[in-house]
Amino acid sequence: MKIVVIGAQWGDEGKGKLIDILSKDSDITVRYQGGNNAGHTVVVGNKEYVFHLLPSAILHAGKVCVIGNGVVVDPKALLGEIEGLSKKGLKVTPKKLKVSGLCHIVMPYHRVLDGLREEKRENKIGTTGRGIGPCYADKVTRCGIRMIDLLNPRVFESKLKDNLLEKNEIFRKVYGQKNFPFKGIYEEYLSYGRKLRKYVDNTMLYLNDAIEKNKSVLFEGAQGTFLDIDYGTYPFVTSSNTIVGGVCPGSGVAPTKIDKAIACVKAYTTRVGEGPFPTEFSSKMDNEIRSLGNEFGATTGRPRRCGWFDGVLVRNSVIVNGIDELAIMKLDVLDTLKKIKICTGYKYRGKIYREFPMDSEIVGKAKPIYQEMDGWQAPTTAARTFRALPKNARLYIKRLEEVLKVGVKYISIGTKRDEIIVR
Ligand code: IMO
Ligand code: MG
Repeated sequence: MKIVVIGAQWGDEGKGKLIDILSKDSDITVRYQGGNNAGHTVVVGNKEYVFHLLPSAILHAGKVCVIGNGVVVDPKALLGEIEGLSKKGLKVTPKKLKVSGLCHIVMPYHRVLDGLREEKRENKIGTTGRGIGPCYADKVTRCGIRMIDLLNPRVFESKLKDNLLEKNEIFRKVYGQKNFPFKGIYEEYLSYGRKLRKYVDNTMLYLNDAIEKNKSVLFEGAQGTFLDIDYGTYPFVTSSNTIVGGVCPGSGVAPTKIDKAIACVKAYTTRVGEGPFPTEFSSKMDNEIRSLGNEFGATTGRPRRCGWFDGVLVRNSVIVNGIDELAIMKLDVLDTLKKIKICTGYKYRGKIYREFPMDSEIVGKAKPIYQEMDGWQAPTTAARTFRALPKNARLYIKRLEEVLKVGVKYISIGTKRDEIIVR
C-alpha cells in the first residue's frame, strides 16, 4: 500500500501520532514538503519526541525514512535532530535515512529575511521564522542551493557568490543590515555537506524501485490543508503544497501509484499564527481548551488559537485531498464539555455559504452557523472500541461523518501510542 496522511485543518492535527502508528506497517516513510517549521510529537512510554525534519517513523527499528526533494532542509537543524536521537541511544544510519540530493537548502540569509519581511509587513503572517518562505521563493526564482550542491565545492561556491551578490545588496539597501560574509557561510555549509553526504541519495529512483518491489510506503504530510500555498487561507499560509497532490512533485512518485489518502483532523480546530479563523473561540473558552488540549506550538511554543470544529473547512479538505478515511484526533480533550458545536455553514451579509469561500474577506468576517450537540461528560481515554465510547461521543463522530461525507477510521483518545480506536 502507498498511503498519504495529511492534515485537514491548519496543522497540528496530530499527524505525528497517527504516522507513528501507521508506519509500523510500512517499509518506508517519506516527508515530501515543508521543512523544520513542522513539529510532530510522538509519545512513547513516558518519553516525548518532537520531530521537525525527520519523519516520525525514525523511532521504528528496521524502517527506512526518506526526506524527499520537496522538503526544504536546514542542514544544521537536521544534524541537530540526528545528534539528539543518537544521544537518546537511537543511531540514524544511511540505511535508515535517505535525503534527496534535490532538496533545497535553507540558508542563514533565508532565516534572517523571514524575520525582516515579517517585521516590514502590515499584515503579518506569523511565520515560524525558520526561513521556509524565502527558501521556497529562491527555489521558484531559480537561485536556490540544493543538497547536491553542498557536495560539490565548485558549484556551491559559484551559486553562493551569486546569491550573496544579490542578497547583500538587498540586506544593505532595503533593510539597512550588514553583509553576509562569503567565507564563513561557505565553510560552514560545506562542512554540513560532508556530514550529510552519506545520507544523500536519488530518493525518486529509490522510492519507485521500492514500489516496484511491492514495498509499502507512507507519505507524511506536514502543516495542513489550510496552510497550503494554493488552497489555504492565502497569504496566511506556508510556502508549499501541503495537500495530497504535493506528494508527486515532492517525492517523484506519480499519482497513479498512490492507493489511499487519510486526513488527520482534530475534534475541534486550532491555528498558530495570523489569518482568518471563522470558528475561533472567545477568550474564556479559548483558554479552557488550550489548557485541556495543551495547545502550544511544538516548534515555536506559541499558544495555539482554538475554536469549534469547522465542517465547511474540513469538507473542503476532504474534496481537495480526495480523502478515503478520517482520523479524528484529541477527542478526549472535549470530555468535560457540556455542549459541543459543529460549524455547518457561514453567514455573511445575509448570504449562507456551505462551501468554503474563495474571498478572504468573507472567510474573515463570516459568522459560523452551528449545530449544537450535548457533550458526553465522561472520560474516553480507556476506550479501545467505538462501542466503548459514551453515546454522545459516538453521536458526535457520526455527525462529523455526515457533514464530511467520509467514514472515520481512527479515533485518538489520548496522547500515548496505544490510546487510539481503530474501527
Ligand atoms: P505541523 O507539521 C501549525 C504556520 C505558521 C504560520 C504559517 C507560515 O506541526 O502541523 P512558515 O514558517 O511555514 O512560513 O509559517 O504557517 N505553520 C504551522 N502551523 N503547524 C505546523 O506544522 C506549521 N508550520 C507552519 O504558524 O502561520
Ligand atoms: Mg505541529
